[in-house]
Amino acid sequence: MGKDVIIACDFSSAEQTYEFLDRFGDRRPFVKIGMELYYAAGPQIVRQLKQRGHKVFLDLKLHDIPNTVEKAMRVLADLDVDLCNVHAAGTRKMMEAGLRGLTEGAGKEDRPLLIAVTQLTSTSQEQLAEDILIDRPMEDVVAAYAAGAKAAGLDGVVCSPLESPVVHEQLGADFLTVTPGVRLAGDAAGDQTRVTTPAKARELGSDYIVVGRSITAAEDPLVSYEQCLRDFVGDKAEA
Ligand code: C5P
Repeated sequence: MGKDVIIACDFSSAEQTYEFLDRFGDRRPFVKIGMELYYAAGPQIVRQLKQRGHKVFLDLKLHDIPNTVEKAMRVLADLDVDLCNVHAAGTRKMMEAGLRGLTEGAGKEDRPLLIAVTQLTSTSQEQLAEDILIDRPMEDVVAAYAAGAKAAGLDGVVCSPLESPVVHEQLGADFLTVTPGVRLAGDAAGDQTRVTTPAKARELGSDYIVVGRSITAAEDPLVSYEQCLRDFVGDKAEA
């Protein structure tokens, strides 16, 4: 997997999702299915999008006791997605259990990549202190959670592009940083707090950017997607 733009398909039905993706013609962008779409359309939407030729990031952010996460991951492995995730806050033991479930469920060498959410990109430094009672700089917290994910054998983390440099510095260039909190210049941040542009994310060394509303809510989503690709991947972006 190389650098790419992942579109967050935060829709409430399969119909809306296909209506949106039909605007991309023959293009098959890497897509993210999160809780809203998965809860509305179920595993079928994942199978259909894979069948249509999309790479899929299944963003269900599992966070439960190790036994439950292991069993859930074993079931999810059957969907053959490209990327899926758990919360690092669930502990190293939980991440190890998730990885075990995914590996055994996939039953083959090329299991889906597993990454851990460090701190949500909607969480600010103030909220980290006041609501989650963590009184340390966000960057240190993300780096520590990422180290836990690496120790558990995971392939990378979800973090803000602003934290990609510290994660790569401390854990190596191969440890993936998948980064939401991305906005095209001029777009509203909405509920996100740790945001940057695709060009800045590229400069900071993110491996993948996850872009939702800057593409899904754009007047012409294809134009916005192409701009994200150009700004993030550069000349190698698919024409
Ligand atoms: O619309 P927007 O670009 O803010 O969408 C970002 C997407 O990435 C959402 O689907 C959100 O659930 C997801 N995400 C995030 N921050 C994380 C993990 C996932 O924003 N840490």
